[in-house]
Amino acid sequence: MKKLIAGNWKMNGSLAANEALVKAMLSSLGGVGTAADMALCAPAPYLAQLQTLLQGSPIVWGAQDVSAHEQGAYTGEVSAAMLRDFACRYVIVGHSERRQYHGETDALVAAKAQRALALGITPIVCVGETLAEREADQTEAVVKRQLAAVIHAVAHCTSEIVVAYEPVWAIGTGKTATPEMAQHVHAVLRAQLAAATQHPERVHILYGGSMNAVNAASLLAQPDIDGGLIGGASLKAADFLQIVVSAR
Ligand code: 13P
Repeated sequence: MKKLIAGNWKMNGSLAANEALVKAMLSSLGGVGTAADMALCAPAPYLAQLQTLLQGSPIVWGAQDVSAHEQGAYTGEVSAAMLRDFACRYVIVGHSERRQYHGETDALVAAKAQRALALGITPIVCVGETLAEREADQTEAVVKRQLAAVIHAVAHCTSEIVVAYEPVWAIGTGKTATPEMAQHVHAVLRAQLAAATQHPERVHILYGGSMNAVNAASLLAQPDIDGGLIGGASLKAADFLQIVVSAR
């Protein structure tokens, strides 16, 4: 299975900056080839721009969140059908920043994943423990609880999701999980998927949390690390492409 390297721009960018970044990536893709599948997840207002810039290229695009509701009186929300209008291939759901700052629960994250799948959009389901949870030896229990809610909701579609393990203490901090620490959690998640789907090996389990051009190769060499969800380093064309090359 080809690895998947997905950028999460978070709340960064502008029309001008996005165009410069994407054009820089596309112009250097020749040297990268198709070492891995590539995706960029942008803020919703820029999805139309990404569609224009990336259509026909090897890079697909996606969103960072989706409403759990289908349509209607939900001011400020963006529906899965709207994401599909802009040909989004992926949507991140349950990012720790949404769980933490917007009170998203396991049940809400599961409903969002379900809504995305219903519209043919692959949810990138984020799970991960806080530092306090790791120190209390709760890592496995937390990530299993978070993933279980999604598996319960999407049932027979479990093999169609992407999972991203993002230890909260490693996000944007420069502190990365060691390859062994990450691999251990990824193996736990793989075993959990194996109980829910016949083909757990087909589910990409991405690592996210300060992955960069320097540490990517050793993380991506682990047997159960099938790619990366890249924050900061996805805002620099050369760094992002170096991570893609590391996935070869
Ligand atoms: P950083 O790569 O900036 O640590 O962010 C990781 C992340 O949260 C990706 O979703």
